[in-house]
Amino acid sequence: MGRVVAIANQKGGVGKTTTAINLAVALADLKLRVLLVDLDPQGNATSGVDSRRELSGPKIAHSRTMYDVLIGQAQLIDVVRPVRHFLFLAPSGTDLVGAEVELATMEGRERVLAATLSSAAQNYNYVLIDTPPSLGLLTLNALVAAQSVLVPMQCEYYALEGLSSLVGTIRRINSALNPGLKLEGLVLTMFDGRNRLSHEVAREVREHFGAQVFASVIPRSVRLSESPSHGLSVLEYDGKSAGAHSYRALARELVQRSGLSAGHDAQKEGNERE
Ligand SMILES: Nc1ncnc2c1ncn2[C@@H]1O[C@H](COP(=O)(O)OP(=O)(O)OP(=O)(O)O)[C@@H](O)[C@H]1O
Ligand SMILES: [Mg+2]
Repeated sequence: MGRVVAIANQKGGVGKTTTAINLAVALADLKLRVLLVDLDPQGNATSGVDSRRELSGPKIAHSRTMYDVLIGQAQLIDVVRPVRHFLFLAPSGTDLVGAEVELATMEGRERVLAATLSSAAQNYNYVLIDTPPSLGLLTLNALVAAQSVLVPMQCEYYALEGLSSLVGTIRRINSALNPGLKLEGLVLTMFDGRNRLSHEVAREVREHFGAQVFASVIPRSVRLSESPSHGLSVLEYDGKSAGAHSYRALARELVQRSGLSAGHDAQKEGNERE
């Protein structure tokens, strides 16, 4: 049974999609079968792993998206397409905005994705779900379908802001919709080693969350922001860059943690700071 991980933080622009794309490719590089589910109508994860040329082609223009799956017009298998060796994509499209509205009146509206993934997940080692910057029905579906949540946090002044509402949401989901949902961990993103604030925020987050913070830290890197416009992960765009190293390290850490039983994470924490 694959591990289903939702990548969520209702704060915008903290590195959710960048983490989804690069973690997915790094896991696939480890020869793990990965399904990347793009649940964000912005579709940045979709365009980030699919080259633009392909996207503008007639084949893609008519292809179905997670919208069709969520409203029951298609099976997951109809929309999933291979994008790399070991990596599969369940694409988003702008029509996904409508899914939020249409889901609202459906019975069991929070469990649609969970029902879809319950059998499909066994075909993969990891299912990563990229979510939009809100706690709406799309994100809720991701959290109900997932075994764990991975939370990217930008190393900026207001990093901790909004985290309490995410933690509150996880608790509510725990008590009502998905008792098994765990916090996979927090990932510090856009860390700038020359900036004192970055160090302060990282320290504060570690003080608050201890072993729940991944040892691997994602640096601020131009390479990371450039790679999606080429339809490439940073591992392919510049495999030797600091960003590529950091996502490879994060993938290894995630695999290590997933193999551990709950509560044993703390001892395995390294001190690798960048
Ligand atoms: N480590 C990084 N270094 C430099 N730029 C980054 C890094 N991570 C992300 N970015 C850039 O910051 C912007 C926001 O990142 P990203 O899209 O991953 O965030 P997000 O949380 O998915 O945003 P949204 O909430 O809109 O979905 C993008 O332009 C991305 O290229
Ligand atoms: Mg995003």
